[in-house]
Amino acid sequence: MGKPILIAFAGNYDSTKEIAQYIAGIITRMGGIVEVKGVEEIRSLAKYDAVIIGSAARMDKLLGKTLRFARRHADELRQKITAYFVTCITMKNNTPENREKATGFLQPLCRIKEPVGLGLFGGKLEYSKIGFLWKAIARQDKTGYMVEGDFRDWAQIKAWAMDIGPRLLDPNFADDTITNRNELIFK
Ligand SMILES: Cc1cc2nc3c(=O)[nH]c(=O)nc-3n(C[C@H](O)[C@H](O)[C@H](O)COP(=O)(O)O)c2cc1C
Repeated sequence: MGKPILIAFAGNYDSTKEIAQYIAGIITRMGGIVEVKGVEEIRSLAKYDAVIIGSAARMDKLLGKTLRFARRHADELRQKITAYFVTCITMKNNTPENREKATGFLQPLCRIKEPVGLGLFGGKLEYSKIGFLWKAIARQDKTGYMVEGDFRDWAQIKAWAMDIGPRLLDPNFADDTITNRNELIFK
């Protein structure tokens, strides 16, 4: 039996965690053993061969705790098969421009270890949960960018998990030479 796959998630609310749990369910049904943990509770990556890092975005960057987690475990991550996803409001519209922007959010992780897949997912914004200052900023936004709603596309997330699962479960996939990052992005 193979080693477990870790899905390390980081969010301020629950939308990224729920995506992590959904992906875990799909990879488990493929025969994988999957652990889902918040980045704050992970001390070591020693027991895993493969790690998915999933993070929300703020200020058009991955959350600080995601970047700190990746830097803290950079040496270990370089030994693993990795895949990354971002949950963000940018991807509420799945356009080439937004995909390029969201791919940019994941670059600090890609620089540590080239992944076998990148997931770019729409997120969820609930005014009732965010602080009053952010709420005021979001309500002032006339562009519609920070509009409230749940923009997660579960069919897209499922398709990504189905694509990424075998790459994480079969170490031979990691030997493939990845020449074009765009091929890794699930559209
Ligand atoms: C205060 C705040 C700031 C945000 N800033 C950005 C941003 O700069 N770019 C972006 O694409 N999404 C941004 N988002 C959207 C979040 O990434 C999205 O809501 C995500 O689903 C949150 O994940 P979580 O529920 O796991 O915390 C922001 C959300 C909040 C609440």
